[in-house]
Amino acid sequence: MNYKEEWVKRLFSLNLNWIKPKEDFINALDQTDYFTRPASIKGFHSKFIGGLAYHSLVVYDTGLKIFDMNSKYFSRLDNFNKKLIDDFKLASLLHDIGKTKGYRYHGMNAVDIASEFISLNEEVDNAISYHMGFYGSIPFFKGGPIDYDLTIAKKMLNDKLTKLLYLCDDLATNVIENKICPIWENLDE
Ligand SMILES: [Fe+2]
Ligand SMILES: [Fe+2]
Repeated sequence: MNYKEEWVKRLFSLNLNWIKPKEDFINALDQTDYFTRPASIKGFHSKFIGGLAYHSLVVYDTGLKIFDMNSKYFSRLDNFNKKLIDDFKLASLLHDIGKTKGYRYHGMNAVDIASEFISLNEEVDNAISYHMGFYGSIPFFKGGPIDYDLTIAKKMLNDKLTKLLYLCDDLATNVIENKICPIWENLDE
């Protein structure tokens, strides 16, 4: 699988409010190392070329699994509406583009980068900004306590979209992904 192609395909399939031509957004990302850099430089997860874009696809797929599970068990409750699913798809694809500017503030930076090209609604903005949840306050991650206001992060984690993105990101990072190349890499060859 070509992670960049898949990432772009998923993004372009969403019904978004583009401020500039969508190709310009991809060109802007191409000016950075977004499509080539590993998800984690230190090697916690997906430490291979293209790992960051791959990681976003895993987060996206993790969320879709949860939506599937929800409709299987709780369809009558309609817990997950279409807007939430669409918002999640967008937020998961964009959540780590800010890492091209470094780890610190990468949620907020992702919003800044994307907002030049796509009009993000408040829910998506908040989810991306605070997707690191409590990890944003761990000095170990260099983001450290000054990375963002933890009281806001705590508040945001009560928001369904932020919570979903945070949990799917955590699951993808610490449970699903590995440091080595994923099996997808081999399947397409
Ligand atoms: Fe992140
Ligand atoms: Fe992430």
